[in-house]
Amino acid sequence: MTSKTVFITGASSGIGAEAVRIFAEKGWNVAATMRRVTPGLFGDLPNVRVFTLDVTDFDAVDQVAKATIRAFGRIDVVVNNAGYAQYGPLELTSMEQIEAQYRTNVFGVMKVMKAFIPHFRENGGGTFVNVASLSARIAFPVFGVYSSSKWAVAGISEAMNIELAPFGIRVRTVLPGTHASNIFTKMDPAKEGDASVYAPYVRNFLSAHKDGVVNHPSRAAQTIYDAATSDAWVFERTAGRDASFLLTMRRWLSTRQWYRMQVNGLLRPPSPSSLRFLSWVTRGTARVETVSDPRLEGQVST
Ligand SMILES: NC(=O)c1ccc[n+]([C@@H]2O[C@H](COP(=O)([O-])OP(=O)(O)OC[C@H]3O[C@@H](n4cnc5c(N)ncnc54)[C@H](OP(=O)(O)O)[C@@H]3O)[C@@H](O)[C@H]2O)c1
Repeated sequence: MTSKTVFITGASSGIGAEAVRIFAEKGWNVAATMRRVTPGLFGDLPNVRVFTLDVTDFDAVDQVAKATIRAFGRIDVVVNNAGYAQYGPLELTSMEQIEAQYRTNVFGVMKVMKAFIPHFRENGGGTFVNVASLSARIAFPVFGVYSSSKWAVAGISEAMNIELAPFGIRVRTVLPGTHASNIFTKMDPAKEGDASVYAPYVRNFLSAHKDGVVNHPSRAAQTIYDAATSDAWVFERTAGRDASFLLTMRRWLSTRQWYRMQVNGLLRPPSPSSLRFLSWVTRGTARVETVSDPRLEGQVST
């Protein structure tokens, strides 16, 4: 059994909550941080302590980092998991929505890293595991702002893995494919302008995914654990069969073939055979229950 300690953001649900369980079951101490504490959430796990933290409150990040270091004496791994998805065409997305997406998904990650780098330097090492997304390597229409925020996470992670190497600090990136979590029920839809202009294209794109069977959040959580504990020279790991399939396909197809396939996905509803194929590719262990947006009524619900 290890006596190491992991600090996890966004631990209230989904991938973060599953990561808390996996680390705790492997004997780690866990500082599970979340915006709103649900009493008894990890009551069955004595080595888990819950801390309140909104990663967009930068002063609080410093305070909670210090509080967890005091409580455990040492933090060995920090998992930057907190995030949410803004979606909709860029033209219809307000600057406030874009700023908010970046404040959580990008600046929150950078601030948490800044809060722990001095501690890791003093300890002569430590590991950051930053949860990006498949969309950090393959940008998707309708999710452009979210995709770009995750490209930023992959970018800062790659740079920091080099910049912090002299101090023995490692940075690892996890790229989850689609996982059945609350992320789909909490999406922030584009709010500005005339949605009807984009409606058919958004509908075509989303209908290709609406019946897709997706991965259980424990799959990405296990990948986070592997990234945190493996000594292999693997900086970036995909999570989920859909993620590895799509990345392989992106590498095999020419830029033109990939572009045409993506644009065709906007112009035409998916055929029954392509839906069957997608379903086969992404088959996993859980289904997305609800993805709804009143402005795009009937287009997104599954
Ligand atoms: N599920 C997928 O298909 C998928 C795919 C690729 C990448 N990811 C990434 O995986 C990570 C985990 O997402 P998930 O799928 O597990 O979704 P989830 O169940 O919605 O979990 C997201 C977590 O982030 C928290 N969070 C959001 N904003 C926060 C803030 N400002 N401060 C602190 N915590 C905040 C949420 O807290 P509340 O409960 O308070 O909202 C929740 O605990 C995210 O970074 C997401 O982008 C997910």
